[in-house]
Amino acid sequence: MDYRVADLSLADYGRAEITLAENEMPGLMAMRERYGASKPLAGARIAGSLHMTIQTAVLIETLVELGAEVRWASCNIFSTQDHAAAAVVVGKDGTPEDPQGVPVFAWKGETLAEYWDLAEQILVWPGDELPNMILDDGGDATLLLHKGVEFEKAGSVPSPDTTDNAEFKEVLRVLGRSLEADPGRWTKIAASIQGVTEETTTGVLRLYERFKEGTLLFPAINVNDSVTKSKFDNKYGCRHSLIDGINRATDVLIGGKVAVVCGYGDVGKGCAESLRGQGARVIVTEIDPICALQAAMDGYQVATLESVVDIADIFVTTTGNFDVIRVEHFEKMKHQAIVGNIGHFDNEIDMAGLEKVDGIVKSEVKPQVHTWTFPDGRVIIVLSEGRLLNLGNATGHPSFVMSNSFTNQVLAQIELFTKADQYELGVHVLPKHLDEEVARLHLAALGVELTELSKEQADYLGVDVAGPYKSDHYRY
Ligand code: NAI
Repeated sequence: MDYRVADLSLADYGRAEITLAENEMPGLMAMRERYGASKPLAGARIAGSLHMTIQTAVLIETLVELGAEVRWASCNIFSTQDHAAAAVVVGKDGTPEDPQGVPVFAWKGETLAEYWDLAEQILVWPGDELPNMILDDGGDATLLLHKGVEFEKAGSVPSPDTTDNAEFKEVLRVLGRSLEADPGRWTKIAASIQGVTEETTTGVLRLYERFKEGTLLFPAINVNDSVTKSKFDNKYGCRHSLIDGINRATDVLIGGKVAVVCGYGDVGKGCAESLRGQGARVIVTEIDPICALQAAMDGYQVATLESVVDIADIFVTTTGNFDVIRVEHFEKMKHQAIVGNIGHFDNEIDMAGLEKVDGIVKSEVKPQVHTWTFPDGRVIIVLSEGRLLNLGNATGHPSFVMSNSFTNQVLAQIELFTKADQYELGVHVLPKHLDEEVARLHLAALGVELTELSKEQADYLGVDVAGPYKSDHYRY
C-alpha cells in the first residue's frame, strides 16, 4: 500500500480515539448498519480531500464498509491529526509493520509544495485504476483536476513564475510536471469521475461559479447547504472549536475582552456566541444588512472594523471573503491583540501584506502561534498563520456535530454513485427527506422526544405525517 503520513507508531492512540468517536457519531454508525451488507459504494473509487482528523477517520472507514476504495489527503496544511492518519493507514486489522487500511497522504505541518503533491496522490491511482468519485472540502481536489484538464486542452501549463499567488504557483508546478510525464492524464481522470460531493461554503461557491461559466466537468452535490450541515457544523461546530483553538493557542482569559467577529453568517453566529459565552464583549462586522440586523437583534454591537480596530483584543474572520483584515488594520491594533481566521482560506487576513511591512519581525511562540513585532515595539499574535485556527490550533469540530455533516456526505456519495443518470451536470442539494433523516438519526443520543403529527394535523399543514415537514424555501 502506498501512503505518506507522519508516524505509523501513533496508530494505537488514533484507534483508541476513533473508537470513542464512533459512539458519538450515531449517523455514520447507522449508515454502516443500514448499508454495510448491501454495499452501495462497491466499485466506487473515492478521492477524498478533507481535514484528516479522528472524525474523518470514522467517515473514511464508513465509506470503506459501504464498499468503496478510498485515497485520502487533508484539505489544509495544518489540520491533520497525525494519530488519526496513522490509524487509518494501519487499519483495524493491520500493524504498523503490515498496514492494511486506507492510503492516506497527510501530516500536520505540510509545506504548500507538499500539500499540492499530496493532492495529486489522491487523484492519480496506482496502475490503470482511475478514481470515479471526489469528496472535497474547499474544492482543491476539484480545482487541481479542472485546471489539469484546462491546461491539457491548451497543450501547455503556464510557468509558475507567471503568478504571485504562492498556492497557485504549486498547482502550476504539479500540473506542469504531470503534463510532461503523462499528457492526457487529467482528461482521462475527469472522464471517469461521476461526481463530487462538496463539504463547505467556500468550495460550494467555487462549484456554482464553475457551473455558471460553463466549465464544470461533472455533477456536484452541495453538502454544505443540507440544513443538517451548515446550520449545525458551521454554527455549533465553530461555537465549540473557535474557543478551543484560541485557548490552546494563547491561554488568554477571554472574559472581559473585546472580540471582533468579522462576518455573521452561520460560522460567525457560532463564533460570536462562543466568545460571548466566555464573557467577551463581542462586536460584529457585516456587509449584508440582513445579517447585520440579525447581529444587532441578537444583542451585539455592529460596527466597521475601522471604527473598533484600536480597542479590540481578539479578531476572528469568518467571512469566506478575502482581504478582510489588512495591514492598515494591523497597524492600529493594540499591543498583543490576537488575530485569527476560521474561514476556509488564509486570504481573509492579508498575511502576504503583513510580511512586507518594513522592519516587522516574525517569531514562533510554538507551532501555529506567531508574534509579529512592529518597528514601534507593538506585538500582534497571529494564529495558524491565518489559516483556519480551529483546526490548526485545536482539533476542529467534535464528533457529534461532524456525524451530521458526514452522514450527509455518505448519503451524497451514494446518491451520485448509484443514481448518476438522475443527476445532470449542475450543483444539487440532497432532498429534504434525507436532511430530515440525518437529524432523526441524531435525536435518540440526545434524549430528544419528537412529537408526532396526527393525520388530521398533517392534512391541515398540507404535509405527509412522515415528512418532509417544510417547503424548500423554509430557512430554519
Ligand atoms: P456565510 O456565507 O453564511 O457567512 C459569511 C458572512 O460573511 C456573510 O454573512 C457575509 O455577508 C459576511 N461577509 C462577507 N464579506 C464580509 C466582509 N468584508 N466583512 C464582514 N462580513 C463579510 O458562510 P459560512 O457558512 O458562515 O462560512 C464562512 C467561511 O467559513 C467559509 O469560508 C466556510 O467555508 C468556512 N467554514 C469553516 C469551518 C471551520 O471549521 N473552520 C466550518 C464551516 C465553514
